[in-house]
Amino acid sequence: MEDAKDAAAAQGQRGRAFPTGLLRVFLGFLLLGVGLSAGGMYLARRAVAAPTLFQPCLWKTAAAAEAEVEEPGDEGLERWTRPPARASHAMTDEELLWRASFAPRARGYPFRRVPKVAFMFLAHGPLPLAQLWERFFRGNEGRYSIYLHTMPAYRANFSSDSVFYQRQIPSKVVEWGQMSMCDAERRLLANALLDISNEWFVLVSESCIPLFDFNSTYQYFQNSNQSFVMSIDDPGRDGRGRYNPNMSPEVELEQWRKGWQWFEVDRELAIAIIKDTIYYPKFKEFCRPGCYPDEHYFHTMLTIEAPHKLANRTATWVDWSRAGPNSAHPAMFGRGDITKEFLKEVREGETCLYNNQNTTMCYLFARKFAPSALEPLLELAPTVLGFG
Ligand SMILES: *[C@@H]1O[C@H](CO)[C@@H](O)[C@H](O)[C@H]1NC(C)=O
Ligand SMILES: *[C@@H]1O[C@H](CO)[C@@H](O)[C@H](O)[C@H]1NC(C)=O
Ligand SMILES: *[C@@H]1O[C@H](CO)[C@@H](O)[C@H](O)[C@H]1NC(C)=O
Ligand SMILES: *[C@@H]1O[C@H](CO)[C@@H](O)[C@H](O)[C@H]1NC(C)=O
Ligand SMILES: *[C@@H]1O[C@H](CO)[C@@H](O)[C@H](O)[C@H]1NC(C)=O
Repeated sequence: MEDAKDAAAAQGQRGRAFPTGLLRVFLGFLLLGVGLSAGGMYLARRAVAAPTLFQPCLWKTAAAAEAEVEEPGDEGLERWTRPPARASHAMTDEELLWRASFAPRARGYPFRRVPKVAFMFLAHGPLPLAQLWERFFRGNEGRYSIYLHTMPAYRANFSSDSVFYQRQIPSKVVEWGQMSMCDAERRLLANALLDISNEWFVLVSESCIPLFDFNSTYQYFQNSNQSFVMSIDDPGRDGRGRYNPNMSPEVELEQWRKGWQWFEVDRELAIAIIKDTIYYPKFKEFCRPGCYPDEHYFHTMLTIEAPHKLANRTATWVDWSRAGPNSAHPAMFGRGDITKEFLKEVREGETCLYNNQNTTMCYLFARKFAPSALEPLLELAPTVLGFG
């Protein structure tokens, strides 16, 4: 406390001392700078024709440099509300997470904000079912945004009329069952948070398909104030059995949760996840093979931080019944599996709670679907899935 006061006092001293002699010197430099900068801008324009000319950046004032990159309309609020034009950027993960954690403190938005659903594709490389997704998104521009995380060496090459065009984010290697999987998910969330209009964040993979049309999907998120994160307290070997007592006191055994990886969270929870520095180190150090962070980390930390906001079920259907007792991978569906009856069963074969009411609309997405499933899916989508 005393130290802080001393520091403040010292700053006050410097603040008072500054205007005397120093200010005159500073003003002199400023005027010199403006003059040189005007010349610099002239040279910079000429430099387009003669690229070998030196770049007089050193002499530009900060204001002149800023004026050059600003676009019309930048003086208004739009400067802070316009989403980044491309998903690519040059921020490190640390810089990205910091930037993404910015959040308004005032209630409401003083501009017309149409909330969007951010679809975060966590993929190895290509998206074999892209065509189905294109049809799902078509006509709903302005109410969704797309982010694609792949293996770092993969270069997505979608044409400019694709919804996936330039939506690849800076990515890193992901190892199955390792913390790097959660890192990729946080990277996706952080990139999506840079768009202030993104309100709901859905994690999907290259083998996921949408089960309903865009409007139904959108309204499902919009009309619920819960997030679809599966979070259960499983007493068994693969549940509480994976808890490590070293995680205490940040995570106690009775707080330990398990769930499937594929989630939907709202903006508030997305920020809670990317800003977390309390639980992250514990999972990184003590949830190692045998324990899979992508089945526990977000589920457990959100249960501790915001239990009332969780539906405790996922909105992504998957079939574990075909897997053997020790298999870590669920069933994959291909061409021969795709029938009207199968899709209907997936869409409405279960009952669950939605806003405290029973419903059969439990899943909005399903996995895992092989590339060979694309053709029959495109064929059945208009009559069975309601789009395409
Ligand atoms: C990207 O796709 C275009 C056509 O859509 C093709 O002409 C081009 O060669 C591709 N580039 C790479 C690097 O694959
Ligand atoms: C979806 O919702 C939007 C906005 O509410 C509406 O303009 C559009 O007509 C709807 N589309 C369909 C296919 O219902
Ligand atoms: C959640 O939504 C329900 C109905 O949509 C509403 O009754 C309830 O008050 C909401 N809860 C919160 C915490 O906003
Ligand atoms: C989800 O679980 C948490 C605690 O584990 C609980 O507080 C919350 O009410 C549950 N949500 C629903 C919808 O049951
Ligand atoms: C939902 O259905 C179950 C039985 O399937 C029933 O026990 C429960 O009361 C129902 N809940 C509501 C809110 O209707």
